[in-house]
Amino acid sequence: MGTAKLILDGKEHDFPTTTGSEGEVGIDIAKLRAATGAITLDEGYGNTGSCKSAITFIDGERGILRYRGYPIEQLGAARFTEIAYLLIYGHLPNAAEFEAWRDKLTRHSLLHEDMKKFFEGFPATAHPMAMLSAMVASLSTYYPDDQDLDLNIVRLLAKAKTIAAFSYKKSIGQPFMYPRNGYNYAENFLHMMFSVPAEPYEVNPVVARALNLLLILHADHEQNCSTSTVRMVGSSGANLFSSISAGISALWGPLHGGANQAVIEMLERIRDDGGGYQKFIDLAKDKESGFKLMGFGHRVYKNFDPRSLILKAAADEVLDELGIDDPLLDLAKGLERVALEDSYFVERKLYPNVDFYSGILYRAMGIPTNMFTVMFALGRLPGWIAQWKEMREEGYRINRPRQIYIGETARDWVPVERR
Ligand code: ACO
Repeated sequence: MGTAKLILDGKEHDFPTTTGSEGEVGIDIAKLRAATGAITLDEGYGNTGSCKSAITFIDGERGILRYRGYPIEQLGAARFTEIAYLLIYGHLPNAAEFEAWRDKLTRHSLLHEDMKKFFEGFPATAHPMAMLSAMVASLSTYYPDDQDLDLNIVRLLAKAKTIAAFSYKKSIGQPFMYPRNGYNYAENFLHMMFSVPAEPYEVNPVVARALNLLLILHADHEQNCSTSTVRMVGSSGANLFSSISAGISALWGPLHGGANQAVIEMLERIRDDGGGYQKFIDLAKDKESGFKLMGFGHRVYKNFDPRSLILKAAADEVLDELGIDDPLLDLAKGLERVALEDSYFVERKLYPNVDFYSGILYRAMGIPTNMFTVMFALGRLPGWIAQWKEMREEGYRINRPRQIYIGETARDWVPVERR
């Protein structure tokens, strides 16, 4: 443990430092206000560690992402459910643990029949993210306490994909398709999304494999906006379902998980405009325009996002295997090439992030654009659960940041007739 010195108004204060297993140093300022009367100000939390965590390691300068120590590049061949177990319980399941885990995840896929009626109340135009967030919060009406947390974890993971697929069926007016126990997680989701009672449906193994990979790549990303939201809500003592419903809402925004939908909309706009990149690169560089290159930039990665490298290769492979020629993939690659040579993006270390190529893959798999962020949420569920569970197990205080007040100083209220 080291020490950091702070000199404030000529007075010296010592603060302990803490070092993580990968050498990251944090200055522990828990006693700062008591010692000095001052607080830190870090809008957007770019320099604030909100917790210690043993789940996911990111080195944004070197483009490294590891789940529980395992490099993301090695995990593509795993099963999503195995990675969910790894994140939540801290170790890779052995064969017996994996079998039992998969069995439970399969058997809890059904929704309570009454929950199906909730969908009737939503308009056909409802965004599936709004339905997902509402339905996950509603799970706490059926399973109101976390006494058997492991069971609630299974319920949430198992039912979320059913809810997601039902949201889609609702939006296109097709009957809900029940889960089938013979399928694995990805296959079951595809079956519930794309099959209809009128004809047989066969899951395309290429599509199921691509979905499995996408889910794994999204499974955790330490203290991002939605995960911090899950921890923030959970720190009040709120239950698992409510906390994760809040995380889903946070993910929805276009600066976070909503970017995958925004990327495709941007590529379509570029295509419809004639396919010239430069105009859009210039627009992104012009702060007045309000336009950003969606799928570019990241708070932590100042190098390639390792997930985007895997997804770019996967997009080539999967589209090829499916025999799809998507001009948006060529557009995306061209845009990336031009941006990475432009001094504005180079100087600011703006690289493609996970959302840049994921939408191309979802499109090839037949997933509609407004479901992209739902797909992200399904992938991120194990991470949210693992982070929430870790917080509960490690002990926590209610999360309650402070502020620097810049409003009016004290003044007297005046009755309305004298104003
Ligand atoms: N296009 C154009 N300029 C950008 C972009 C972009 N996509 N991203 C960042 N910049 C610029 C900023 O304007 C800023 O410029 P300045 O220094 O001249 O003021 C500089 O690069 C630094 O960017 P910040 O906004 O300070 O970075 P921050 O860490 O706050 O934001 C974020 C990160 C939200 C991801 C941002 O890069 C962005 O909006 N990207 C587009 C949306 C997106 O792809 N989001 C998905 C993120 S990944 C995820 O959530 C899964």
